Amino acid sequence: MTEHPATEPAAPDRAALQGARVLLGVSGGVAAYKAALLARGLVTHGAQVQAVLTDAAARFVTPAQLAALTGRPVPTDLFEDAHRIVHVDLARQADVAAVAPATANVLGKLAHGLADDLLSSALLCLDAPLVLAPAMHTEMWEHPAVTANVAMLRERGALMVGPDHGPLAGGDHGPGRLAEEDAILDAVAAALGPSTAPAQATASTQPTAGDEPLAGLHAVVTAGATREHLDPVRYLTNRASGRMGYAVAGALARRGATVELIAGPGEQPDPAGVTVQRVETAREMHAAVLARADVADVVVGAAAVADFRPAETAAHKRKKGAPDETEQLTLVRNPDILGDVGARKRPGQVLVGFAAETQDEEAQGADKLARKGLDLIVVNRVDAPDAGFAVDTNRGLLLGADGTRAELPLMRKDALADRLVEAIVARLPSRDLPQTNADR
Ligand code: C5P
Repeated sequence: MTEHPATEPAAPDRAALQGARVLLGVSGGVAAYKAALLARGLVTHGAQVQAVLTDAAARFVTPAQLAALTGRPVPTDLFEDAHRIVHVDLARQADVAAVAPATANVLGKLAHGLADDLLSSALLCLDAPLVLAPAMHTEMWEHPAVTANVAMLRERGALMVGPDHGPLAGGDHGPGRLAEEDAILDAVAAALGPSTAPAQATASTQPTAGDEPLAGLHAVVTAGATREHLDPVRYLTNRASGRMGYAVAGALARRGATVELIAGPGEQPDPAGVTVQRVETAREMHAAVLARADVADVVVGAAAVADFRPAETAAHKRKKGAPDETEQLTLVRNPDILGDVGARKRPGQVLVGFAAETQDEEAQGADKLARKGLDLIVVNRVDAPDAGFAVDTNRGLLLGADGTRAELPLMRKDALADRLVEAIVARLPSRDLPQTNADR
């Protein structure tokens, strides 16, 4: 319980706040008065801020004050406008939500799905990134219940900012102080994702209603880990959850591409509009991808494919020998799926890989880019707590075979997928506009 809370790294690109719709939740700690300054900071950066106060927050800062700073009425009551289902509207109209300060009570309610007021109800409807800036006394922050709730919320993808270590209300000192305004602004910007397309992108492919710039494009995406069986009950695998590949498949499909996702075992829900084929082993994934690679315009290898498999898969459960006996396991190399696609690459086809590294990531990524014949590679360190395997956020570098290099700051995997799709589109041969039925 002595772990020192730290502000997570965040992107400095505040331009993402321009025009963003921010749901600013304020809960009832002494630090609530600082929410007024944060609201002003967000507005200054061009955000449209909708503040929501809990009853307790309204004792520290007034709805009128926040309404004046944001230019919008500030609801506090779930039943105030019952016919409008205010909590659902609030959530749907947000590009990002930030709760600052987030009290132990709000964190606990959110972690456990409780919705007994307007703010907690709106947060349960939210389908946008969430930033939480906890503030409370050190004893509360260090209580195992709060620690567990924070871990649960992080695991679900909430970006935590702070708390900082410093003076607290009542003359105390320690961890629990609301993060500085700058850190919260950076975290909200990071949660929104980058505002600018990579230098090589020529046109925005951010989808809007009825906008399907990739209609007619065929993409194959791999995702997740593979399982390499030792016997009927044991296998070798890794920590990949599949989230990154699912996000890329979803991003391509939202822009109208026909997407086939070849996924290892996992619990990710199928992305809308994507055909999902489940496989288990690297060899099954290899066969499924190679069967489609010739017709695919884009192949994205986001799967963490096992490099080796047991030389033999026992038909029956392997038995252990004498207690002091050691067991030798012979492993053989699996096929390199993307490498094989790269070896038979068609002109105009765009191939994308991921490189999950724990050291020398840029050099390793550049080497893989060249060796596998890829056009783009996303390189990231998988030993960071907020990037890589089994979390909702990622960060890294995007390297292009054409020598381009773009930093990918901390962002949600779906934002990173959007960014990657921008770079893919910039590398596709110029395409005719999709035909309408009348054209055919
Ligand atoms: O060589 P390494 O496994 O580090 O390369 C990672 C990239 O190659 C990822 O895009 C991954 O999906 C792909 N890969 C593959 N087949 C393998 C191993 C990796 O397609 N057998």
